Amino acid sequence: MAILQILEVPDARLKTVSTPVEKFDDELKKLVEDMTDTMYAANGIGLAAIQVGVPKRILVIDLQEVPEGEEPSEEGPEKNPLVFVNPEILDPSEELAGYKEGCLSVPDQFADVERPATIRARWQDLDGKVHEQDMEGLMATCLQHEMDHLEGILFIDHLSRLKRQMVLKKLNKMRKERGVAA
Ligand code: NI
Repeated sequence: MAILQILEVPDARLKTVSTPVEKFDDELKKLVEDMTDTMYAANGIGLAAIQVGVPKRILVIDLQEVPEGEEPSEEGPEKNPLVFVNPEILDPSEELAGYKEGCLSVPDQFADVERPATIRARWQDLDGKVHEQDMEGLMATCLQHEMDHLEGILFIDHLSRLKRQMVLKKLNKMRKERGVAA
């Protein structure tokens, strides 16, 4: 297990367009393991490989939702990481859904972003097997957010210039305050 360093804005590497995975080997499995560990350690619900500096089309997502009717346990929800290699979006709905999004690369900042409410996704697993599934709700949003990373796009790029500058200003202020406190 290895916790990797997560790149944060304004790191230029976050703007990289990631390239498809071609080899489904042990190296891929090891990277995905480390990405998953890193996501959980940072309390995130999704992570793209480029966020740990690897420009490959790989995502891990775990919404960590507590199933309806169940009480959350003390250790938190059961871990069920989903891995998406070379993901694609098919049939995005015209209907949009808004979520207050955040990102491990823009720490502790949140803003409303609208995206297609439902999508059909196609992706490969760690063995290269192709999957297709309809998605809605937070899963649809999260997958689209993570897929944006593969194109070098952050959620703040969906905001107006003014809003984006406000978010970045707040982030810098927070960094300064934490720097002083440390
Ligand atoms: Ni993100």
